[in-house]
Amino acid sequence: MSEAASIRVALADSPALLPSLAPLLHQWLPRQRWFAGKGRPVTAFSLVSATEILPVDTGPVTAGTGTGLLHLLVRVHQPATPERSPDDCYQLLLGVRSVLPPRLAPALIGRVTEGPLAGRTVYEALHDPRLAELLLERFRTPGTLGALRFDRSGPAIAADLAPRVLDTEQSNTSLVYGDAYILKIFRRIFPGTNPDLELPLALAREGCGRVPAPVAWFEAATATEPLTLGVLQPFLSGAQDGWQLALRALAEGRDFTEEAHALGRATAEVHTALAAALPTPALHRAQTEHLAAAMVRRLEAAAQAVPELVPYVPGLRTAFDAVAALGHRARDRAAQRVHGDLHLGQTLRAADGFWSLIDFEGEPARPLPERRRPQLPVRDIAGMLRSFDYAARSHRPWNADWAARCRTAYCEGYARAAGADPRGEPELLRAHETDKAVYEVLYEARHRPDWLPVPMAAIHRLAAADD
Ligand SMILES: Nc1ncnc2c1ncn2[C@@H]1O[C@H](COP(=O)(O)OP(=O)(O)O)[C@@H](O)[C@H]1O
Ligand SMILES: [Mg+2]
Repeated sequence: MSEAASIRVALADSPALLPSLAPLLHQWLPRQRWFAGKGRPVTAFSLVSATEILPVDTGPVTAGTGTGLLHLLVRVHQPATPERSPDDCYQLLLGVRSVLPPRLAPALIGRVTEGPLAGRTVYEALHDPRLAELLLERFRTPGTLGALRFDRSGPAIAADLAPRVLDTEQSNTSLVYGDAYILKIFRRIFPGTNPDLELPLALAREGCGRVPAPVAWFEAATATEPLTLGVLQPFLSGAQDGWQLALRALAEGRDFTEEAHALGRATAEVHTALAAALPTPALHRAQTEHLAAAMVRRLEAAAQAVPELVPYVPGLRTAFDAVAALGHRARDRAAQRVHGDLHLGQTLRAADGFWSLIDFEGEPARPLPERRRPQLPVRDIAGMLRSFDYAARSHRPWNADWAARCRTAYCEGYARAAGADPRGEPELLRAHETDKAVYEVLYEARHRPDWLPVPMAAIHRLAAADD
């Protein structure tokens, strides 16, 4: 056993490690944007795994004490609510130094006062270029390190690329390496392969060029299922995201139909490839009724939380009843894996106009098994149509026509590539748009009340569209 490995076992197995970090994590964790348990007290932490990616010097602190990189999976215990699990698992990458240089001050987590790291400062390792480079180095040489397993696919990974943390951090943290790669570090970790690795790998196998193919990834090797921790992909340098492009088009009074048409094609190509790559179970009558019933349940739950929805419930229900009625007709529909959270912000247009889709995680708030379940592709289409509406509504004066034209162009682009127009089954499209708008109402009421009028306008329209 190497010296590094024997140190690793000592620190990782130390029962004092987590208790000594707990006071700092209590302060720091709830302030992180990706921490999903805000507003509920943290009652305890427990350690899932600890791995030294760069061995931590646990001897007496001296001027020469080196930098360490500690990888932790920590379970955070909180009181359960009807919607939230009591203990989420988070991925932490901690830099450990005796003294933190001033340039890393914004990354500070705190100073440890007891236990094996006593006297050392711990900080967000991803903000330390040296440690971020080291992480890329690990991907270059696949294999197992402590609880972690590094894998890669395709050509060798370039070295010596300067890292930077993307400031668009939402539920994850992304690092860009020299405009060549982007590494997405998942923060909340669920058992099972993350669809943001699974689907891009399947699409790459299928030869679909619409999604950047993973070049490397790492997982926690647990006894049961692997836990996906991060994915490295080519960085589409110079590409712009669809949401920004749509807002700019609106601000400049420009039409967006050419882009919407191209996005429809891109979506259809991804759907076709996913259907070819992964199982496509038939939705029989029982499953179709089940789908409609789940939408009704979500509507009822949302109406309980947001009183503004209540007057619209009967009108909206007709959308879901129409889907349940479809189940009585003879035709079965094929479900398949889909993007799961498709909107303009999940699309990138290269300088030559080629559109790619990114971020196949699905809706992060939903449990992983639900996100990985095959669904009707119209779900993604509804997501993109809602996104055109959001873009149009975020611009003053409101340009209803702009969104309507995008909608037509997107569906036409989709039909051209897929061979079937999503408007051909209006019941399914309306129900999925309604389900999405209901979700948006709940989200905006909780997080961004100023935006509530946007989905409420759609609710008004969808409740009246009793066809
Ligand atoms: N392959 C890529 N090339 C260029 N930019 C990317 C790439 N993947 C992601 N991005 C940028 O990073 C942002 C966040 O990535 P995403 O995978 O959507 O993460 P999140 O789960 O935080 O939404 C995107 O909006 C995009 O601007
Ligand atoms: Mg995203």
